[in-house]
Amino acid sequence: MNVQSSENQVEALSPKTLFTGQQVIWLAECASTNTEAQQLLLKSRATEGCTVITDKQTAGRGQRGNSWEAAPGENLTLSVVWRPTFLAASLQFQLSMAVALAVLDWVSMVLGPDPALRLKWPNDVYYHDQKLGGILIENTLSSAGIQSSIVGIGININQLEFGMPTATSLARLTGRHYVLPTLAERLLECLERRYLQLRAGQAKALRYAYLQVLYRFQEWHYFEVEGRRLTGQIVGIEETGRLVLEINGQLQSFGMQEIKFCL
Ligand code: BTN
Repeated sequence: MNVQSSENQVEALSPKTLFTGQQVIWLAECASTNTEAQQLLLKSRATEGCTVITDKQTAGRGQRGNSWEAAPGENLTLSVVWRPTFLAASLQFQLSMAVALAVLDWVSMVLGPDPALRLKWPNDVYYHDQKLGGILIENTLSSAGIQSSIVGIGININQLEFGMPTATSLARLTGRHYVLPTLAERLLECLERRYLQLRAGQAKALRYAYLQVLYRFQEWHYFEVEGRRLTGQIVGIEETGRLVLEINGQLQSFGMQEIKFCL
C-alpha cells in the first residue's frame, strides 16, 4: 500500500488487489474526485489503479452534465485511474460494462444476490426502480486507443434522506449502517477482477453478463425520444454502446442524449 503524504489524507485502505487501490488518496474534502484524479494524471503522479476518495464532494459531476449530490461522510465517492491502452477507442463501452458489472458484483455481495439489482443502461445501479449509484467514466483517447480512464463511482450507502423519490441507499434498503473503508476495499477488489477480465480479452463474457442484469431488458416499457413518449423494448446493445430498441416492429438505436426511460 502506498499512502500519499498529504495533510488532507484521512484514511488508508488495504484492498487485496494487484494494483487497484494500492495508491490511495483519501481526501477530507474536494470538489470532484474525478477532477482530482485528472490533476494527478496530468502531473504524472497517478500509478495504475490509483484511487482518489473523499468524505465530502462539493461539486460532484454526473452523466449528461448533471451534478452528483452525496451527503458528506455517508456515501462512497471515489475515482480510479487506469490505463486501458489495450482497448481501442471504439470499444470504450466494454470498459463501461466491466465497471458497471463490478459495482453490481459488489452490491450483490453486500446485500446478497437479488434479481431486483440491475444495471440501467448505460451504467446506473438500480434496485427495482430506484437508483443506488452511478458511474462517470472520463477517457483520454489517443490514436492508438484509450490512453487513460478516470472511473468515477458514487454509491449511496448510509444516507437516508434524498431529495428525489427515485434515489435509495444500502442503509435504506436494509436498515443497517455500513463502514465505508471496508466497503471501499471490497469494491476495489471487485473492480480489479472485472478489469482483469476485460484485459484478458473476455469482452464477450462481459457483454453476456451485462445483458443478464440489464434493467428492463426484453420488456415493453415507455421511453421518451425527442420529447415524445413511445413504447419499446430493449433488445440489445451495439458494440459502441448504443441502446437498441424494438419500436413499432422496427429496430432503432440510441445514444445517451437521445433517449430517456420513463420511470
Ligand atoms: C451519474 O449517475 O450521473 C454518475 C455519477 C458519478 C458520480 C461520481 S462520485 C465520484 C466521482 N466524482 C465525480 O465528480 N463524479 C463521480
